[in-house]
Amino acid sequence: MDSIVVTGGGPLKGEIPIAGAKNACLALMPATILSDEPLTLTNAPRLSDIKTMTTLLQSLGAEASRLQDGQVLTMSSHALTSAHADYEIVRKMRASNLVLGPLVARMGHAEVSLPGGCAIGARPMDLHIHGLEKLGAEIDLRDGYLHAKAPKGLKGAMIDLDFASVGATENIVMAATLAKGTTVITNAAREPEIVDLVRCLRAMGAQIEGEGSDRIEVQGVDRLSGATHRVVTDRIELGTYMLAPAIAGGEVECLGGTLELVQSFVDRIERAGVSVKETSRGLMVSRTSERLSAVDVTTEPFPGFPTDLQAQLMAMLCTADGVSTLNETIFENRFMHAPELTRMGAEIDVQGGTATVTGVEKLRGAPVMATDLRASVSLILAGLAAEGETVVSRVYHLDRGYEHVVRKLEHVGARIERVKA
Ligand code: EPZ
Repeated sequence: MDSIVVTGGGPLKGEIPIAGAKNACLALMPATILSDEPLTLTNAPRLSDIKTMTTLLQSLGAEASRLQDGQVLTMSSHALTSAHADYEIVRKMRASNLVLGPLVARMGHAEVSLPGGCAIGARPMDLHIHGLEKLGAEIDLRDGYLHAKAPKGLKGAMIDLDFASVGATENIVMAATLAKGTTVITNAAREPEIVDLVRCLRAMGAQIEGEGSDRIEVQGVDRLSGATHRVVTDRIELGTYMLAPAIAGGEVECLGGTLELVQSFVDRIERAGVSVKETSRGLMVSRTSERLSAVDVTTEPFPGFPTDLQAQLMAMLCTADGVSTLNETIFENRFMHAPELTRMGAEIDVQGGTATVTGVEKLRGAPVMATDLRASVSLILAGLAAEGETVVSRVYHLDRGYEHVVRKLEHVGARIERVKA
């Protein structure tokens, strides 16, 4: 298996282009199932998770191809042949569960494997199931699969989510576009990826209002058409690269970044001593003081601080002056990076959902590995300013969510290389 070797060094300078959002694209792709006309996505990120979703759609009989070096995805579901999302694909990527709502809405039935456990938490699907049942689907769990049917079609309903789940909101919104009548989702998730999905669905002819708020109203229509849609900027990739100059020093312009995507994150890092300025092309980030200050953070659904940036922020706080507290409220097991950062000399105490980080002057390079995407990239960030060499293994996690991570960081002066196994 490949590894990434980072040698800690001096300040970074230059620009990093930010890709289209993985998590938006993974919700947009299943939307193709809702229509028999082509859906084209531009600004798609080139990631293994996108390939996995492509394989899943193809297994359902959809046509899906990647053009222009993978940045354009063309899909068509005019001849779907199956409503079976197989365990072999779903177990690799739980976002596969986003085909459930579209399949039931379009085909009247679906069999979608339950994803099973995940490194960061149990991640059940009860909210997805409850929402689709409210729309009239009958859903049973048999042989590890959710068997859903709605032979007479779905019917609009009032759905109040117990928690503002991103995936449940996406599945329900997609299903509701083809339901008869009006669906109102309250306590809906407000993430930019949901706003992006709704914009695409609207371009396909769906009637939806309220995206970005906690109340989304969908007026069902008989059919959706094709569309071409540009995937929104990846706010998590953006936040990750904003932390590179914050940790290693220097000044980096993150191209395509906007403040509205990362406001709560920016509030925190500015408080720690990082400067963020909007430019005509993105966000310019630099460190204003020799040493950053400790800050406290609690992860929350959008617009709160994103759980997907918690590991990366922890990497920064390891060398900040003072004691920082990180409360993880979204996933129950999302501190796997803490013991690895500790191997690099960090002082971190984890008690349940709270990590207390006492800043040290400097981290030291070490061989490290992590079991999820964001944890892995946090180790690369930590390595940028550590003394000596950090070798990050299990690089396949990074390939799921960061395109050209080595090239992007090398381009701003980081000493980083990928070593083939
Ligand atoms: C999305 O996952 C993202 N994935 C995650 O990205 C992200 O961490 C998460 O939202 C939170 O922002 C994609 O968009 C593909 P949730 P999702 O449903 O939709 C509980 C990354 O690194 N829950 O909002 O699965 C769940 O267990 C990642 O890119 C239920 O209890 O997240 C969790 O504790 C990983 N029942 C919380 O809600 C349900 O039916 C938030 O989950 C659904 C969720």
